Amino acid sequence: MAGRIPREFIDQLLQRLDIVDVINGRVPLQRAGSIYKACCPFHDEKTPSFTVTPSRQTYHCFGCGAHGSAVGFLMDYERMAFPEAVEELARLAGMEIPREFAAQGPDQDLRPLYDIQQRAKDFYTAQLKQHPQRQRAVEYLQQRGLSGEIAAEFGIGYAPPGWDSLLQALTAQGRASPQLLLQAGLISEPEPGKRYDRLRDRITFPIRDARGRVIGFGGRLLPGGGNDNAPKYLNSPETPIFHKGRHLYGIYEMRQALRRPTQLLIVEGYMDVVALAQQGIRYAVATLGTATTTEHVELLFRQTLSLIFCFDGDRAGREAAWKALQTSLPQLSDGREVRFLFLPEGEDPDSLVRKEGREAFEQRLTQAQSLSDYLLQHLAQGIDLGSTDGQARYASLVQPQIEQLPDGFFRQLLRRRMAKLTGATEAELHHSLARRNSTNIGRRNITRPSPPRPAHHKPNTPLRQAVHLLLQEPGLALLEELPQHWSQADVEGIELLRQLFAQIRQQPDIRSGQLIEHWRDSNFFQPLQALSRTPLHLPESGYAAEFLGCMQRLDKLAAQQEFEALTRRSSQQPLTSEEMERLKTLSRRISR
Ligand code: UTP
Ligand code: MN
Repeated sequence: MAGRIPREFIDQLLQRLDIVDVINGRVPLQRAGSIYKACCPFHDEKTPSFTVTPSRQTYHCFGCGAHGSAVGFLMDYERMAFPEAVEELARLAGMEIPREFAAQGPDQDLRPLYDIQQRAKDFYTAQLKQHPQRQRAVEYLQQRGLSGEIAAEFGIGYAPPGWDSLLQALTAQGRASPQLLLQAGLISEPEPGKRYDRLRDRITFPIRDARGRVIGFGGRLLPGGGNDNAPKYLNSPETPIFHKGRHLYGIYEMRQALRRPTQLLIVEGYMDVVALAQQGIRYAVATLGTATTTEHVELLFRQTLSLIFCFDGDRAGREAAWKALQTSLPQLSDGREVRFLFLPEGEDPDSLVRKEGREAFEQRLTQAQSLSDYLLQHLAQGIDLGSTDGQARYASLVQPQIEQLPDGFFRQLLRRRMAKLTGATEAELHHSLARRNSTNIGRRNITRPSPPRPAHHKPNTPLRQAVHLLLQEPGLALLEELPQHWSQADVEGIELLRQLFAQIRQQPDIRSGQLIEHWRDSNFFQPLQALSRTPLHLPESGYAAEFLGCMQRLDKLAAQQEFEALTRRSSQQPLTSEEMERLKTLSRRISR
């Protein structure tokens, strides 16, 4: 497994790069004074409201609110995971990620593996055009309703029947070693010296990663080839570049067809994805014969906010759906949505969409079951909600599920619905949940202070305003020392301010984009992003005075806190003379 990329490296990287270059390579920017503009790549518009500000090293869209650093841009625009985005930036900057941290692990260069997969794909597609037996494959694809265009778009090919056609072709004239093919999972070696092509007499489906690199294959048996006992589908084994739990079939092709899908449909089979695409439904992807993993859900939510999992209506399908629900719960933050579609017995998306057509199939999608309906209904099975006992049992089943959810609107909604069903009041449920959670939260608090609430829940405290100002103009932190004694005070968010100060002092020319990047893994990241994108409604010339004003108000607040703590203590035990002195100083500061 790759280790964490060191913070210092990301700092250096963002310092060396200009966000303007990163974005301009993808979205052509127009200069407008000290900033750059373009039509926003994240929503449809005719007049440009997307801006890039070099002095802050951030981008911001006044239309849709998209906002972030160069790393954030790549994650959103290219839908890369964080390490991928850093790798891409490093490539642009001509910097090497310290080897031990690179996603590819310590010493293996993965290029030959990607390369050989691509060549295998070229070989298979060529066979579909040239091989003496190509007609069988072509007829099969036609019979399954696929056009030449769709087959070409998905890179579908034909693995010929011979034992080692691929092996011979790719290793001819010493071009690639059999070891490489073995490592790539393209051939197998059941006994030393005996090497066979893994896929023989099969339709081949190249599996591509989100960037379009071929990383493996699925192969479907061609009927009538005399080996009907072989498994219907064979997939590449796990290799250094292919992990079933991390990749989804069809993601690249989906992204080629749709820049911003409004929803994604997750199905089980290769043929389902291709058949749906053939009917014009371009937003389907498939898991690769495994249960849905956390990484799958992350990858999916990087593409869109709305997921529909599609399963067979049979028992296996229901079990798989429940697992997918469990995996999704922790990632269901506000704005995200997961629904479930169960298909009639004996049908799969391929058979259904071919039978009833695109419109009827999409009509089914609109009736997919919401996650909360499915959850509440699934757990109610076999429980008599009319009895107090049943209600208690039901509550004890649902509560752990609710606890999996991140804090937010959806969690409240579920709690409210459960309250209705069980007759408990929300407050009761909330309390019993809070009790269960208390140890957890306590532990978390030691290492990480809880984030300030989002803007709409919170009046503008001096701390919030100070952080807001720092995000606009980090240099403000150099105006004043952060008083030592503040850390004693129990002002919410003070730890965040302290760390921001430390960061800026360490790197006085740090820009907003870099500053926020430090917090990506913390609870503070979202609130900081939100704050950073909120305009200040202050002329820039007024920043310093406002900042110093905030610091004064904070000082007063900190003094008040400490004063109260000391007076509370004095009612239980006599104060030391030092503490008495302190109390006097504090009361002076408060009344100032
Ligand atoms: P299904 O058995 O439902 O096949 O497997 P399908 O997709 O409907 O196939 P067609 O329509 O007969 O061509 C669903 C998925 O499970 C995996 C494959 O990923 C397949 O697409 N699978 C299935 C295997 O890996 N091996 C198998 O032998 C069967
Ligand atoms: Mn099928």
